[in-house]
Amino acid sequence: MNEIKQRGQWGSTFGFLMASIGSAIGLGNLWGFPYKMGSTGGFAFLVVYLILVVTVGIALMMGEFALGRKTGTGVGAYAKLGEKYKVLGWMAAFCPFLILSFYAVLAGMTLRYCVGFLVQIFGMDGFAGQGSGFFGFLLYDTKSMVLFLALAMLITMAIVMGGVQGGIEKFSKVAMPALGVILIGIIIFVAFQPGAIEGYKFMFKPDFSQFSDFNSFFNVLKVASGQMFFSLSLAMGINITFGSYLSKEKSIQRNAVIVPFSDTLFALFAGMMIMPACAAFGVDYGAGPGLLFASMQNVFIDGMGGMAGNVVGFLFYFLVFIAAITSSIALLEVLTSGIVDKRIAKGKDPSRKKISLIFAVCIFVVGLPAAMDALGSGGAAIPAPYELLGLTPDSPGFAMWNDCWLDLYDMITEGVLMPLGALFMSLLLGWKFPNLVKEECEESGNAFKGAGYFKFAFRFLIPLVMILVLYTQIQAFFL
Ligand code: PHE
Repeated sequence: MNEIKQRGQWGSTFGFLMASIGSAIGLGNLWGFPYKMGSTGGFAFLVVYLILVVTVGIALMMGEFALGRKTGTGVGAYAKLGEKYKVLGWMAAFCPFLILSFYAVLAGMTLRYCVGFLVQIFGMDGFAGQGSGFFGFLLYDTKSMVLFLALAMLITMAIVMGGVQGGIEKFSKVAMPALGVILIGIIIFVAFQPGAIEGYKFMFKPDFSQFSDFNSFFNVLKVASGQMFFSLSLAMGINITFGSYLSKEKSIQRNAVIVPFSDTLFALFAGMMIMPACAAFGVDYGAGPGLLFASMQNVFIDGMGGMAGNVVGFLFYFLVFIAAITSSIALLEVLTSGIVDKRIAKGKDPSRKKISLIFAVCIFVVGLPAAMDALGSGGAAIPAPYELLGLTPDSPGFAMWNDCWLDLYDMITEGVLMPLGALFMSLLLGWKFPNLVKEECEESGNAFKGAGYFKFAFRFLIPLVMILVLYTQIQAFFL
């Protein structure tokens, strides 16, 4: 068998797209995008985010696909470019580890809501008598938080161990469009709630006040950039791995536009569902990482109410959970297969099951603080980072990176390691291997479009944006 057959390739462009879109669309879109937009002024965030996706995101995704297909590996691609670049691969691989440890906490929470609504359908109380205020209760229900984190990790691990990702992909081909449909349905419902219009204004009405001073502009830039990395699954070897399975005749450039486009569409849907819901039900846009859960509970319980609310709530959380699980699988898989490939290359037994178990246990343990600190609401089973630092939410040093463990993990990955990885990757593709992307894209027989722009982007634009982001991050750290 030749090497290509052994590693496998996507049967069709559709299969490739579904897998990469399936990994891209997840909690980043539904949970991350609205809450980050809510914390940084709505319109300003949206504009900066869209500009970043078009100017930086597409180029980086294209670069990663090309790098993967050229070298035929995932995170190992950097080492193939040169021994000294190996460290970039390690850096990229650390991100899925830390991300999954909080991602699974959130996936567990969606599962908890899903079960809650299911129980309600059968006439029982699924939310401990708290109704629409359940979120505040759940945060301090440490046992449930840990139990559902464990369940989310267990399900992810079982799928990766069993190697049944193929089955899940078939399932997600139905679940993703279904999620799109239910999002549109909820958007329409929310649109008719009194006061919802303010939410659209928050998102779409031009308001440049965030751009009036450098600090707030850089803050928006930093948050939007982190969100872009997270949502497009950039700078952690995922798209490099996907690219390595893409056959030569498929167009890299086309796919590097379709994936970000679809991902952004889902993020916009989530925003158009949650922002008006906040306006209608009096939830603060800047409520932080709990925004999705807090606002949607109002929609299902107070807005729709009764059986309708229970059924739609169940369907919604079920589909969100599927979206979260397909992403969790990608995260655990990239770690597991990284080690498995290495062991096979060394002629050792791959021990796939053992490796995924070890990773899952470590990730669970690292995820515990994020599940037990009540997202930094104070006085929880485990103190949040700011509490450990002796700060209060009113102290000057209180910031988005120390307000809870989840945000700290988020800052380390999408705030520091990913921009750093992207900085090095664009410098490599811009200066050291300036023809790699162009040549690889031309392999499919299509002309390489926008050559001048991409050269400029890899050489100057992306490095500049990444340096600004890193600078802002470091500044926030020492504030
Ligand atoms: N992009 C996914 C999301 O938005 C998260 C993810 C990151 C998934 C990296 C896989 C790999 O939820």
